[in-house]
Amino acid sequence: MIPHLLNRLLRLAPAIRTWCEERLPVATIDDHLKSKMVPRHRHTVWYYLGGLTLFFFIVQIITGVLLMIYYKPTIDGAHESVAYIINDVPFGWLIRSIHSWAANLMIATLLLHLASVFYLQAYRPPRELMWISGFILLFLVLGFGFTGYLLPWDDIAFYATQIGTEVPKTIPVIGPTLVSLLRGGEDIGEATIPRMYTLHVFILPIATLLLISVHLFLNQYYGLSKPIKTPQKGKDIPFYPNFLLRDFRAWGIAFIFLLFLAILIPWELGEEADLLRPAPEGAKPEWYFLPLYQTLNILPSQIWFLNSETILNIALMFGGLTVLLLPFLDRKGKNGEHNKLILITGTIIILYCIIITISAYI
Ligand code: HEM
Repeated sequence: MIPHLLNRLLRLAPAIRTWCEERLPVATIDDHLKSKMVPRHRHTVWYYLGGLTLFFFIVQIITGVLLMIYYKPTIDGAHESVAYIINDVPFGWLIRSIHSWAANLMIATLLLHLASVFYLQAYRPPRELMWISGFILLFLVLGFGFTGYLLPWDDIAFYATQIGTEVPKTIPVIGPTLVSLLRGGEDIGEATIPRMYTLHVFILPIATLLLISVHLFLNQYYGLSKPIKTPQKGKDIPFYPNFLLRDFRAWGIAFIFLLFLAILIPWELGEEADLLRPAPEGAKPEWYFLPLYQTLNILPSQIWFLNSETILNIALMFGGLTVLLLPFLDRKGKNGEHNKLILITGTIIILYCIIITISAYI
């Protein structure tokens, strides 16, 4: 039965292709894909990271839509509906576990992708816009993590969100308004869940989808960059079909890994949040916000006339702007190689984030 169906489909394929060719620029797309090459060198494996981030994003969208069917974005319904998904909906626990693990893996591959383009200096002209669109994507993806964390309305998530929404309060002028807009009032409560939900399932996905399209279009337009001073190892790899098939193989391995994690370590649901209960032991933000959280903890509460949150905000704004403008700042190196100061500063920041994150768990 199945081979027969496949056979019929294969016989139909040329007819479908002709139908498309008469209506769409299939030949132009074909020519473009066939002419695209992927540089072959000892860092070629790093080119998989952007694709893997994309894969986890697709998994997020599919599993997120399934979760939306049963999730209730209200203070009375949120925790109960998640418990229902886990206990009563067939495979609900698995879908939720995949969604939560994929969110974490997406942020991990995204950070590795960012580090790889930094070290390969792939942001050099003409790819400045790729770096800028990627940098904005980083914030959108962190926004997914932040807004999604509160949705199960369990106590750890509740306190983590409370801490997380304290920091932007000290941004000059817009800080307090921004926080009360996010929380839907002075404190986290009834109005917060619908706001986080709207951001999580509507505003952030649309913005991310649009920006990923721009990012990928630019990548097709410029092609992949060749790192400076890294010797070529044999001929470039044709993107289509060779590298694309390798990309899909990486997606397959990532999917098996994700499935293992989701089954062996199902994502837990804590006690329902209680606005009057004191913070539970070990309530802290997700690992990707720990560098900020830990920095806030080690800063003295007052330096001169500034409190620790204001100092962190100033550092974040200054640091963020520097990273955003990196392609325009890193132009002084001889023969186009990394400006040493930027390379060393970037490495110190990465090491600091790793060490301070680990310190939060020991
Ligand atoms: C949702 C987030 C993102 C997705 C889905 C994504 C996807 C991709 C893909 C598929 C590629 C081509 C293959 C590769 O080089 O890995 C790429 C390249 C690139 N990405 Fe991203 N990316 C994201 C975020 C970022 C971020 C945060 C940055 C940096 C701030 C960034 C900067 C770049 C640059 C500069 C390139 C060109 C690499 C080269 O030509 O060698 N991307 N991205």
